[in-house]
Amino acid sequence: MNILDAEFVKGFIRLTDDAFRQGWHERNGGNLSYRIRPEEAAQINENFDGTKPFVEIGARVPQLAGEYFLVTGSGKYFRNVVLAPEDNIAIIEIDGKGENYRIVWGLAHGGRPTSELPSHLMNHEVKKIATNDRHRVILHSHTVNVIALTFILPLEDRVFTRELWEMATECPVVFPDGVGVVHWMVPGGREIAVETSEMMKKYNVAIWAHHGTFCSGTDLDETFGLMHTVEKSAEILVKVLSMGGKRQTIQSGEFRELAKAFNVTLPEKFLK
Ligand code: 13P
Ligand code: ZN
Repeated sequence: MNILDAEFVKGFIRLTDDAFRQGWHERNGGNLSYRIRPEEAAQINENFDGTKPFVEIGARVPQLAGEYFLVTGSGKYFRNVVLAPEDNIAIIEIDGKGENYRIVWGLAHGGRPTSELPSHLMNHEVKKIATNDRHRVILHSHTVNVIALTFILPLEDRVFTRELWEMATECPVVFPDGVGVVHWMVPGGREIAVETSEMMKKYNVAIWAHHGTFCSGTDLDETFGLMHTVEKSAEILVKVLSMGGKRQTIQSGEFRELAKAFNVTLPEKFLK
């Protein structure tokens, strides 16, 4: 099968276009990765080029040994993916130790996977284990309103979780575990990858102060939807703060009622 005919590739391309249109991906901002199912790889692997050299990931991900990922390219623009997917995205193969990768398709005119590959792969590894192989997508976006809030709110998981939950009734149902906040760090390396993957052990959302948001999910729709929900909630909060702040809000007892009605567990630490 032609790689561009595979459903997961079409969905990946559609997500990059949708996310660009949301205003989250200026220039080359943000990146996306998808952990390809073995049966999906089998459908297209006749097109793979196994001759490129392996390159260091910059992180160790032994639980991902031998896996294939579809990833955006470093310095590539989300808005161009739909026009020229082969130039802007790539399929990579992880080696048997989980320490190196090689490009087997894509980035046809050169380039390398996103500079946030260590964060993406470490998050994938954590989520693969934590969700028993269910989570397959990591999306990093430069979400305007979430970033704005990191200049105003204390950089604490509890504060961001509670504020975002309060801004839209269904938020606690969409991200019942809450969100984690990573203090400002240099992007693109192992250090920020380690901090973020620690957050991903607890949450599906990690906010990078003054930079953006990471979301993890089972599929492309769910992950895009999670980013969309978090960012919309942040937008409401920005509006509320701009209008002089909350005069009334959802109370802890009401969150407990919501949790019961929607059959989700909300950690008590966020209900104080
Ligand atoms: P890349 O172009 O390398 O993916 O970097 C964009 C970005 O958002 C870094 O955090
Ligand atoms: Zn970024």
